[in-house]
Amino acid sequence: MITFSAPLVISHQTGKVAVLADLHHDSYSKIGRGPFESHGLDNGLPWAELDALIIAGDLADAPFSHWPAAFAYLRRFIDPSKTIVVPGNHDYYAGYLNADDELENLTTAAGAHFAQQREIRHGDDRYFCTTLWTNFALLGDAQAAMNVARRHMNDYAQISKRLKTGPLSPSELLGRPPHVAITPEDILTLHKVQRQWLEDKLSEPHWASNGRSFAVSHHGPHPDSAGQIDGLTPAFHSDLTPLFDRYRIDGWYFGHSHRRLAAQVGRTAVHNVSIGFPYEKHDPDELPLKELCLVPMPGTSVTSRR
Ligand SMILES: [Fe+2]
Repeated sequence: MITFSAPLVISHQTGKVAVLADLHHDSYSKIGRGPFESHGLDNGLPWAELDALIIAGDLADAPFSHWPAAFAYLRRFIDPSKTIVVPGNHDYYAGYLNADDELENLTTAAGAHFAQQREIRHGDDRYFCTTLWTNFALLGDAQAAMNVARRHMNDYAQISKRLKTGPLSPSELLGRPPHVAITPEDILTLHKVQRQWLEDKLSEPHWASNGRSFAVSHHGPHPDSAGQIDGLTPAFHSDLTPLFDRYRIDGWYFGHSHRRLAAQVGRTAVHNVSIGFPYEKHDPDELPLKELCLVPMPGTSVTSRR
C-alpha cells in the first residue's frame, strides 16, 4: 500500500476546484461518447479557470487497459498537472485491491496525480482523499449486509487480491490476474485502515486559522445523502456520524451510488458528485451536477440544497 508522507500542493491561481466522480470513461467510449459531453459538463464548467479537478473514483474499469484513454480524454479539458485521481471500486476491476502502487504509476505516466490516503493542499484549503470503502454497518447488521454484498456486488468477482509482491506480470497488466477474489471481510479491513487515516488527518490542526478541511471519498459517508435505502445500500454508504460530530469538516464530496444528492450533516455539506453510466436514469429529486461539483470559494457559505 502507498503511504504519501508529504501533501500534494496544487498551485493556487483562480481558487476554483471541481470534484467529479464516476466518469466511467470506458462505458462512454464503447458507445462513441464522452462523460462530460453527455451531461452538459463540457460547456457547463469553467474548465480554463479550474486550479484542480479531483476525480472521486470510477475513472474507468480495468485501469491497465482503459486508464490511458481516459487520461487522454481528460487532457482535452484540463491540464494533467491539475488532475487528481482518487480510486473507486471500478478502478480496481480486472486488477487488484492491493495494487495502488501500479495505479499511481499509471497516473503519473499521464502527468496526473494519484491520491489514495493523500492530503491535497490548495491555498488555505486541505482535501483528505481516500476510497473509504464501506463498513457495511449502515443498517446495524454488518454481517447481513456483507452477505447481501457478496451475492450482488460485482466487486467480489471483478477485483482480485494479490498474494505476491514485486512487479506485475504481463498477463496481470492485461487484466488477467490469477483470480483470488476479494471478500467483504477484506473490504471491512480496508475501511478501518482508511477511516483511521482520515481521522488522524482530520485531527491535525490546520495551518491557517480560517483554513477549510474537505473530505473526498468514493463511498458515501452518511445515510442522509444516500437516497432510498435498501439491503444493498450498506455496500455503498457508511454512517460516519461520529466523524461529523468530532471534527470540523467544511465539505464532503463522494460518488459510487450515482445519485446526485446533497445533505447538510451538522456543519458539513455532503455532495454526491457522480456522473454515472450512459443512459442511467436519474430521479427528479437529484440536483444539477455542475452546481454540486464546484467547491465554493472561501468566504462563501458551504450549504446544501435538498
Ligand atoms: Fe460508479
